[in-house]
Amino acid sequence: MTFSRKIKIAPSILSADFADFGREIQAIEAEGADWVHIDVMDGHFVPNLTFGPPAVAAFRKHVKTVMDVHLMIAPVDPYIDAYAKAGADILTAHIEAGPHIHRTLQAIRGAGMKAGIALNPGTPAEAVSDLLDMADLICVMTVNPGFGGQKFIDMTAKVRKLRAMIGDRPVHIEIDGGMDPVTAPLMAAAGADVLVAGSAVFKGGSVENHAVYGQNIRAIRAAAESAL
Ligand code: DX5
Ligand code: ZN
Repeated sequence: MTFSRKIKIAPSILSADFADFGREIQAIEAEGADWVHIDVMDGHFVPNLTFGPPAVAAFRKHVKTVMDVHLMIAPVDPYIDAYAKAGADILTAHIEAGPHIHRTLQAIRGAGMKAGIALNPGTPAEAVSDLLDMADLICVMTVNPGFGGQKFIDMTAKVRKLRAMIGDRPVHIEIDGGMDPVTAPLMAAAGADVLVAGSAVFKGGSVENHAVYGQNIRAIRAAAESAL
C-alpha cells in the first residue's frame, strides 16, 4: 500500500447480500472499488451485531485490493491479533472504545497492520492531536455508528481542522456514513481522501446486475473529484 491522497471509494459490505459476501466483494472490486470496508459490530459498543474474525478471514480470500476493517467493538485489544491473522490491511479502532487508544494503536502496528482511529460525531478533532504520528488513517463518522442507510451529519469543520492538523503526514482522512454524490463533494473539498459508502454503492444493483455498482461508484467518485 503506497500512500496517495487521490480519492478512494471504499464500499461497505454492510449493505451487501449477507448470504453472498464472496461474490459481492468480487463484484464491487470488478466495478472499481479501491478498498473494501468491513464493519465489525459487537452489539455492545454499538447497538448492532455483524461478524467476527472467522468471517473476516473468509472475506480475505476474495479481497484483492485493500481490506479496511472498522471495529465498532469494545474492548479492542484482546482481538487485535485475531484481525491480523484474518488478514486486515488496515484496522481502525474507535477512540471512544476505551481509555488506552495509544496502546491500541501501538498494538495494531506491532501486529503488522496500518492503524486507524475512528471518531464518533460527538468527538472533537483535537482528541487525536497527540496521536497523529501513530495513525495511518483518521475515520470521521458522519453518522452515529451501528447501521447503514442513515442520514449524513455534516462534519465539514472537523474534517478541515484534521486536514490542517495532519499537515504533510501520510495520514488518510476517511469519511464513513451517508456518502453519496451529494455529500461526498463536501467532504472531499474539506480534505477527505477515502469515502466509505454502503447504501449508495449497493442500491439498485445485485451480484447478477453489478454494473449498477459500477455506475454508483463512478457517480460518487466523479462528484467528489469535481470538488477538488
Ligand atoms: C456505520 C458503518 C458504515 C456504514 C455506512 O456504522 O460504519 O460503514 O455501513 O453505510 P451508509 O453508506 O449506508 O451510510
Ligand atoms: Zn464503517
